[in-house]
Formats: sequence, structure tokens, C-alpha cells
Amino acid sequence: MLKVTFLLITLLIASLEAAKMVCYYDSASQFREGPAKLTLQDLEPALQFCNYLVYGYAGIDRETYQLKPLNKNLDITQNHYRDITNLRRNHPQLLILLSVGGDRDLFEESPSSSYLSVLENQAHRNSFINSALAHLKTYDFDGLDLAWQFPKNPPKIVEGRFSSGWRKVKGWFSSSKPVDEYAAEHKEQFTTLVRELKDAFKSDGLILTLTMLPHVDPNLFIDVPSVIGNVDFVNLGSYDFQTPDRDPKVADHSAPIYEMFERDPTHNIDYQVQHWLNNSAPSNKIHIGVPAYGLSWTMSSKSGITGYPPIEKTLGRGAGGRQLRKPGLMSWPEICEKLQADKELTGEAAPLRKVGDPRQRYGSYAYRSADDNDQNGIWVSYEEPSTAAVKASYVFAKSLGGVALFDLSLDDFRGQCAGEKYPILRSIKFKL
Ligand SMILES: *[C@@H]1O[C@H](CO)[C@@H](O)[C@H](O)[C@H]1NC(C)=O
Repeated sequence: MLKVTFLLITLLIASLEAAKMVCYYDSASQFREGPAKLTLQDLEPALQFCNYLVYGYAGIDRETYQLKPLNKNLDITQNHYRDITNLRRNHPQLLILLSVGGDRDLFEESPSSSYLSVLENQAHRNSFINSALAHLKTYDFDGLDLAWQFPKNPPKIVEGRFSSGWRKVKGWFSSSKPVDEYAAEHKEQFTTLVRELKDAFKSDGLILTLTMLPHVDPNLFIDVPSVIGNVDFVNLGSYDFQTPDRDPKVADHSAPIYEMFERDPTHNIDYQVQHWLNNSAPSNKIHIGVPAYGLSWTMSSKSGITGYPPIEKTLGRGAGGRQLRKPGLMSWPEICEKLQADKELTGEAAPLRKVGDPRQRYGSYAYRSADDNDQNGIWVSYEEPSTAAVKASYVFAKSLGGVALFDLSLDDFRGQCAGEKYPILRSIKFKL
């Protein structure tokens, strides 16, 4: 009787445990200039809200298969690895992981080749595992995050005429070329790598997590029931479903929670979560990925004036913002500024028109239609504090493990928009 009561209390406490906040930190943000550059001091106010800080990114050496810093000068020479793990002194609750991959290890045509080579043989795996362990211990990380660069599903092509035909379109089809001829082998080998890492980490109590990158098909590469038991949690790449790089001619919601009418049924958070749950992953190990940015397309004069997605005949990436200066991508403070711009302004300075999401299913977008010369048109699908909160509520309602924010450097870390620093991060944290 006592035992049962004890068990029940333990279960109750476990179920009351708050969902986790995983904060990605992209160290490449150190190399930006002006207000987009995030320093160690800028990072500080975020840390009280994070359970995990994930340092992105390390890579893999193509000759030795060892884990290697991607920015040796910053990470090692300038001591940035250690500066980051020293943040734990003021934030003892914080667990700090080193992430490998993350689509940042891109020095060759096929970004997945060294990641697949590591899997393919025992000597390569040993080399990776030993070097990862050495890095974690030398620089005092709490664990390793595998943001493994598997080959991605290609963009799907929609058959048929767009203009009036969009809603009649039934057939989505991919190219007939397989994503990876040896996917079955790689899936099995990845399970082995995860098991071997887990074993190697055991005596030091190091954490091992998995981050799925967008468009990596878990059906192809992850044996969920075998892998999930050996990782602490998985962060789903549940964003960037539609991007100006993959889909330059069609703008659309990039990170909806639920399936949209006549869209790829896998391109939403709910489907991704359901896949893992269906494959016997415990719900408290599933974290959904939430972006702190927007993706933008250039609207053409043929893209219409309603802004209602999907937007056809777009011309690739939208113009970059004033801080990141990165075409196709806008940080939350950049978007905020565009929304609040003076209504008197015209041309490329004119404010964007915001369309919210009262049904809380697909997210917000904003746009400015193009003039007759194809100038000044832009369409942005974006996350903001209120939509991020809706995603956090979804996590809570489904008893999932938490949220992974990509990443701190794209949230409004200076409080430019509404005076408060890290509004997206806070908004998620207060809902969990
Ligand atoms: C999960 O399983 C349910 C019930 O079998 C099924 O209807 C659904 O399509 C599955 N979803 C995914 C994403 O596998």
C-alpha cells in the first residue's frame, strides 16, 4: 500500500514537472556586425529562462572523422567554448550541450557525406565518439546534441496549373531519385552510433540528445523505438517546411501547427509529433522546434494583392532586413520594425501589412504587394511572441517534453521591439 502511494506520488510529481526550454545559441552570431551581433553579455538575460543551452555548431573532420570546432579561432583560440560553459557559474540550473551538424557544416557539395561516412564503419564511429568525448570533457560541456546532417527530402513539385488550379491540385510528387540508396543501412548504423555514444558517455554522466533537421525524413533514418531510449530527448525540426530557398516560386506558411488545406500533409508540427508518438516515443521526450525568425519571399506583380497564401509567382528570397542583411530571413526585431513603420512611408520603407491567426493554427504573416514594376513586394511568414505562446500551449496540452528555440540570436535580444529583451523566449517559457 505504502509502495503504491509512493509510486503514485512519484508519478504525480513527474507529471507536474514543467516542460523544458531548450535554447539554441548559434555562435556564428558573434561574427555579425552592428545590432545583430550577440555578445556574451547579451546572452545573459536569456539564461534564466533556459533549461538547456545548445552551442551551435561543431562539425566533422572529413579525413579523420573526428568532431571538430567549425570556428577554431572563436571556439578554441578565443576561448568561446569555455566562456559559454562558464555561464553555468551564475546559472547552476543550466545544462550546456555542444551540437554537431545543424546544416552549418557545409564545406562540400554533399553536406551529409561525412555524416554518413562516420556511420558506415566502426573505426570512423570510434574516432567520432572518442573526439566528441574529449571535447565535452576538455571544455566542460554537459553533453552532446546530434543535429545530424542526413540527406533531405527534395522539395515536392505540384503538378498542374497554379492560377485557378491550386485548389484542384491533388497530386504531390517528389523526384523519383531516392533520397539515399542506403537509407536502411544508415538507419541501422545510426542506431548503433547512438548506442555506442550512450555507452561511452555513461561513466561521466553526459547527456545525449537528438535534433532532427528540417526535411530529414525520420521514416528513412531514425529507428525511433531503438533510438529514443538512448537519448535524453529529441528536438523536432518542425519549422522551415516552406522556404524561399527550397520553394522560390511559392510563398507559404513556414511553420504551421496543423495541416493546411491542399498542402503537403507532413508539413506541420502536429504530423511530425504524431510520427514519433506513433513509434512509441514517450511524449515527454519530444520537444517541438520553434523558430525566432521569419522567412521572406519577393512578391511579383503577378503574385496578387490579397496576400492570402499560398502566394504564387514569387521571385525567390525577400529583401534582407536592416540588421541581419540576409535575404530570405528576418529576425523578430527586423520584422517588428517593418510592421511598425510609419504609414506615411512609401516604397521599400512602407510598412508591411500584418495578418494574424485568430484560429491559432498556422501562424502569422505580413506582406506588401509589389508595384507594377515588380518592385517592393515582400511576403513573410513569421513567429512572434503570441504565436510562439500558442505552440507552447500545444506542447502543454499534449504533455510533450518542451520547446527548442532556434535561436536566441534571432529573438529580440536588445528589446528593440517592445522594450523587453527576448520576448519570444519569455512568451514560450511562461506558457510551459
Ligand atoms: C499515427 O497513427 C494514427 C492511428 O493509427 C494514424 O491515423 C496516423 O496517420 C499516424 N500518423 C503518423 C504521422 O504516423
